[in-house]
Amino acid sequence: MINLEQLTSKVCEIAIEGGKYLASERKTFQKDKVIEKGSHDYVSYVDKETEKLLVKKLSELLPEATFITEEKTVKFEEKDYCWIIDPLDGTTNYINDNTPYCVSIALSHKSELLIGVIYEVCRDECFYAWKDGKAYLNGTQIHVSDKGSLNQSFVELGLPYNAKAYKPVINHLMDELYGRASCIRINGSAASDLCYVAAGRFDLYIEAYINIWDFAAGALIVQEAGGNITNFSGEDFMKGHHIVASNTLVHNEAVKLLTPFLGSL
Ligand code: IPD
Repeated sequence: MINLEQLTSKVCEIAIEGGKYLASERKTFQKDKVIEKGSHDYVSYVDKETEKLLVKKLSELLPEATFITEEKTVKFEEKDYCWIIDPLDGTTNYINDNTPYCVSIALSHKSELLIGVIYEVCRDECFYAWKDGKAYLNGTQIHVSDKGSLNQSFVELGLPYNAKAYKPVINHLMDELYGRASCIRINGSAASDLCYVAAGRFDLYIEAYINIWDFAAGALIVQEAGGNITNFSGEDFMKGHHIVASNTLVHNEAVKLLTPFLGSL
């Protein structure tokens, strides 16, 4: 039987080690090292080397687990335990020396999330949670906010790479929320967006066309901090790419905003 609390603590050490490598490479990072793997979707040796480091350390920690990783430096195999890794979430921020960016690591067992760890490099913040163990930031328990309506909410929106398909949605959300919500931000790192909901900094975060390595760790952190995370229909998010994460109190209001797009995304 795995002790999730102890395992989480070791995963935090590994995520921080990955983050320190990112920070040290950033000092001399050159934009000519960047490759465009999809439209405006970038990667460099830094993402790949960080991923290799994480895979090596996590394999030693739990040899029976397989991997799903953004940069595909390791082959996925069908197994019960699975590490889900984004070695550098917020790559465009990193490339442009902007904040935030993170290492994101989740552990699942038969699709159930057991551990979520996100290390946000720029503020030296390690967010983590394990199933039924609550959520923490650098050793202190965190909780979602208590804002009761969208009118009071500090809202984070994502701009996924799939701009053409998402433009009608983001235009609609801007139209509905700008001037109504307390304020809107677009920070450029799905993993940290979820952590900020968990820590009560944002009350709501909406994004589509993101991948399991972008949201798996953050999803558990949000849930263990008392928040809610669903797809755009208010249902299970795990198998899809579209997410709404909130402090729970504003969730229904947020999901209602998305009803014009159900079935078309
Ligand atoms: C991206 C970031 C970004 C989000 C994109 C993601 P990456 O992840 O999370 O905030 O808008 O959709 O793909 O490429 O930096 O790992």
